[in-house]
Amino acid sequence: MRRKLVVANRKMNGSLASNQVFLEGLLLGTQDYPYADYAVCVPHPYLFQAEAILKGSAIAWGGQNMSRYESGAYTGSVSPRMLTEFGCEYVIIGHSERRQRGHDTDLAIGERFEVAAKAGLKPILCIGETLAEYEAGITDLVTIRQLNAVIQELGIKGLASGVIAYEPVWAIGTGKAASPAHAQNILSFLRKHIAMLDADIANNIRILYGGSVNATNATELFSMPDIDGGLVGSASLNTADFVAICQAASNAYR
Ligand code: PGA
Repeated sequence: MRRKLVVANRKMNGSLASNQVFLEGLLLGTQDYPYADYAVCVPHPYLFQAEAILKGSAIAWGGQNMSRYESGAYTGSVSPRMLTEFGCEYVIIGHSERRQRGHDTDLAIGERFEVAAKAGLKPILCIGETLAEYEAGITDLVTIRQLNAVIQELGIKGLASGVIAYEPVWAIGTGKAASPAHAQNILSFLRKHIAMLDADIANNIRILYGGSVNATNATELFSMPDIDGGLVGSASLNTADFVAICQAASNAYR
């Protein structure tokens, strides 16, 4: 039995004042929806605030990226220990907005996933095809390549500590979510691929869908058997919308 997980990816948005409204609204708004797990990934400067407001609650928090190094001359980077010092449970790894700008290669993402897991974080590994790849009909090839880069780095057992988020690049921030059938197809394909290596891990690992999840489409997406929740960008900027997505996840508890 996999509990649904809804993760807010706040990207480079927010301020001390607006975060406070959002986080307090979330604490209140999710009180009646205990049948799913929730997390908020904030920009690094706001981790202190997220910890101060969410500590002791059922809502987890995390970073949006991290270095694979422990410390040293890496200007602008943040280490796994810095994230755990601020109580992070999750860290997003390999988001397409970073892959596309050339910051993250498959290899670097695999290494970072491993380092995150070793530090006690739950890495959220983002994978997904571009529009050109989707139109070329190679979604399965692309997503398997991205997933295998991590499996090769740390072995199938190492994957177990993380979460996978399938996010088609063409669906991110466009308002055009993948159809529940497409998302289900890919997630089922990914889970079968993992099952060939380890059936238990395939059964237990949470695979999320991300890309224009909103208050309207969440219920149908979360009703799909292999969709274990969502990674939510734009709709996490509105407290009521995000709470409605959390409600959809909690209601999908089977
Ligand atoms: P979106 O972003 O919900 O705005 O499409 C999702 C993401 O980038 O994780």
